Amino acid sequence: MTYSHVERANDLEPSDGHRILREECPLHHEENFDPPFYVVSKHDDVLKILKSPELWGNSDGPGVFYQRGGVLGSTDDPDHARQRRVLREVFLPSRMRLLEKKLETICNDLWKTFEKPGEGDFVKIFAFPFPALAIAEILGVDPNDREKFHKWADDIVAGLGGGDLKLVDKANQELWEYIDDLVETRLILMDQGDQLPEDAISTMTIAFSKGDLSRREIQRLGHQLLVAGHETTASLLALMVYRLSSQPELLTSLKNNPKLIEPAVEEFLRFDSPVQGLFRTNSKACPVRDSVIPAGTKLQAMFASANRDPEIWNDPDSIRFDRDPKLARQHLAFGWGVHYCIGAPLARLEARLALKKIVTSNTTLEVLEDPPTTPPFILRGFTELRIKWN
Ligand code: HEM
Repeated sequence: MTYSHVERANDLEPSDGHRILREECPLHHEENFDPPFYVVSKHDDVLKILKSPELWGNSDGPGVFYQRGGVLGSTDDPDHARQRRVLREVFLPSRMRLLEKKLETICNDLWKTFEKPGEGDFVKIFAFPFPALAIAEILGVDPNDREKFHKWADDIVAGLGGGDLKLVDKANQELWEYIDDLVETRLILMDQGDQLPEDAISTMTIAFSKGDLSRREIQRLGHQLLVAGHETTASLLALMVYRLSSQPELLTSLKNNPKLIEPAVEEFLRFDSPVQGLFRTNSKACPVRDSVIPAGTKLQAMFASANRDPEIWNDPDSIRFDRDPKLARQHLAFGWGVHYCIGAPLARLEARLALKKIVTSNTTLEVLEDPPTTPPFILRGFTELRIKWN
């Protein structure tokens, strides 16, 4: 068929395109793309793929192009499991509790702009810096280097959408070197018998000293945390503001009952999943629905479409904060299975803090125009969100 999923993916409301996929071509072959690839869009099919990592692997990269030699999201077991065992510690609930106060301070500082009436771009003022600064905090970036780090984060993320590739290369190189310097500092502390700061670089440096990670892997893992955790979370924050502004009754219900903030974060993740769908590649020929897919084929598992599948969700195209909590958390916005988003606890914490600020502050945010969407078809978010506040 001639339907182009890639062309529809950046619609302001991509869910219409997802519905066509689910109803008319649940196993869609996207022929007008190089390389051509398959797409599954129904909840059941997406889950089946995610639950078969031995067949549908990540070592050709989670994107549409074949890329080898990565870490974590771009690799399979046993390397994936080894790297994940180390990083899991960084996102434990006890670490999140320690982080909460610091992130609240960052959130409050960024919010100061909205304390006097004005107009501007919510993405630039709040949605982009907050996750970048949160990742800087979790990694262990020195507060004096935050600006530098924020700039690398911006340049690298801009590259995902076709930004200046020279800037991306420069930022990648500088970030890798910076991470390696942080490792060096911690190795010196260890040699001296001093205590290490409680951050991701320390956790990874200890793993290096035990032979569980290489220094190159640490550089790549630090980089992946930034790339995977920055734009995704920024998109969630901007999408929440967009929805709350266009459906003010949602904001009223949160103001009346702030206990709904947590379920609301889950519902926004389901309704407006910032990662529309990532790729797997099959190690051997295998059946999917009524076709046999040859080995080495890229297939996109559409999390966002699965999250609107009426076979799973009652009233899927409405934002409802009263869903059964067990079902509500079964959305696939963070994927599922062995590659389930390792940063989900951090993303949830940031979203909860931001939403609490929006709900409890006296500022009203109003979206002024339809926002432009982010270019990569695997993602969903806004490059800009013009708002007025008072
Ligand atoms: C709203 C924000 C976020 C969304 C929607 C999101 C979504 C996702 C998704 C869909 C996956 C792939 C799951 C799969 O392929 O099965 C993933 C993986 C990953 N995410 Fe997130 N993510 C978010 C925030 C973060 C944050 C804050 C971090 C870290 C700072 C992070 C780090 C990662 C990493 C490292 C992986 C690869 C995990 C693996 O392959 O084992 N993400 N995320």
